[in-house]
Amino acid sequence: MLIVGFRCFAISERVSAASQPRALYCRVVALVRLLGLVAGLGAVLLAQAPPGRGNVAPFYPTPMQVAVKMLQEAEIKAGELHYDLGSGDGRLVILAARNFGAKSVGFEIDSELINSSRRQLEKLELGELAEIREQDLFTADFSDVDVVTVYLLPRALARLKPILETSLKAGARIISHDFPVDGWDPEKTVTLDNYDDPVDNWLHTIYVYRRPAADTAQ
Ligand SMILES: C[S@@+](CC[C@H](N)C(=O)[O-])C[C@H]1O[C@@H](n2cnc3c(N)ncnc32)[C@H](O)[C@@H]1O
Repeated sequence: MLIVGFRCFAISERVSAASQPRALYCRVVALVRLLGLVAGLGAVLLAQAPPGRGNVAPFYPTPMQVAVKMLQEAEIKAGELHYDLGSGDGRLVILAARNFGAKSVGFEIDSELINSSRRQLEKLELGELAEIREQDLFTADFSDVDVVTVYLLPRALARLKPILETSLKAGARIISHDFPVDGWDPEKTVTLDNYDDPVDNWLHTIYVYRRPAADTAQ
């Protein structure tokens, strides 16, 4: 359709001197066809992005040593349930299951990351302990979760905050990489440098929160 539109524009240029009305008609037809093309493409793109699955953070992986520290600071124990919200390449899910014996679930909406992290879980035979769900992180059921890890932008954390406040059980830990949850007092703030890494060579901050009992909730 795009080619047809361009051709019609070209023809209209050639005939314009000889026949003004015909050239105008051809221009209109070309324009309508181009508009149809744009509308069609828009519809296809919208169909590929189901509503409610907005990406709230680009993929940027937590350096391994920071990821380990996050889980250590969470005091995560074997058998506990861990969620990584926006699990990226699955590194926190893999670590929680493989190194700490936790039952770990990653939530991710990027299909390439979902496929590659699932392949990794399969390769490491972590199927019993770990899974990646293709699911918007805001729709997760948090009622049984012990540890939540996040590496999300402030706006996403602000949206997540009331959900966690109402659905996490007392004693659950939330560990946020680099961005604090506005309005919560961290139990601990830990910084560690990653200066040995030639690319990601800056200081990383880990914010450790623990949900209080209902009567002392912030
Ligand atoms: C900064 S990366 C963090 C990856 C991993 N958690 C880590 O720390 O290495 C954020 C991830 O969140 C994912 N994401 C963004 N919006 C999401 C949403 N609404 N639901 C689930 N995942 C989402 C992105 O695709 C990306 O992989």
